[in-house]
Amino acid sequence: MTQGVIAERFLDERRAAARIACPPNLIPAPGQYLLAHDPASNDPLAVPLFPAGSFPDGFLAAPPLPRAWTPGLSLSLRGPLGRGFHLPASSRRVALAAMEGSPAALLALLAPALAQGASIVLVCDSPPQDLPDEIEIQPLASLEEVCRWADYLAFSAGRANWIEWRARLARLKQAAGPREAQGLIHAPMPCAGLAECGACALPVASVWKWVCRDGPVFNGFELLH
Ligand code: FES
Repeated sequence: MTQGVIAERFLDERRAAARIACPPNLIPAPGQYLLAHDPASNDPLAVPLFPAGSFPDGFLAAPPLPRAWTPGLSLSLRGPLGRGFHLPASSRRVALAAMEGSPAALLALLAPALAQGASIVLVCDSPPQDLPDEIEIQPLASLEEVCRWADYLAFSAGRANWIEWRARLARLKQAAGPREAQGLIHAPMPCAGLAECGACALPVASVWKWVCRDGPVFNGFELLH
């Protein structure tokens, strides 16, 4: 198990909850995650950490993080785990949409999308304030309109509300939305596949998939079947 360190903690968690210093080979790609554990705590469960951006010596971690994790704390890290986003190289109109909660886990896509010259619209109701000027921000109510413009949609959503966001996704598809959509699904992941607990199960195309191992990023339109 490798160590990481909480290098910084942020009061405003809309951009990220913390900066984690760790070896480069542990930095998760957008949509992937690490399992982090405080070796000095009695908590038996590790915490999944999703990147909200990366640096040569670590990454920004999306919320939520335990309040007790303060700067200087050492962490045991396992990963990177799971399937992340695959931003199409041809995409030039990127929509990032948080169907609920924080958009932070989608923000790891900003750097690669900007690097390939894409225009980006962030769709959410609680945006961070310190984004690059070229990122356009729209409320969630405008998702359908933004998706008629986008050629690629990356969204995040919670498994608990899958009936609601799946219905919205179906409307996007019917309305000739983006050519490609990928969804990061948040679900409890107590074992991350190690114990095959099934706590993260999600119905996809009439079979049960594990968010921890088959995801957490899925082909968005496959989630409709
Ligand atoms: S979290 Fe246990 S199987 Fe996915």
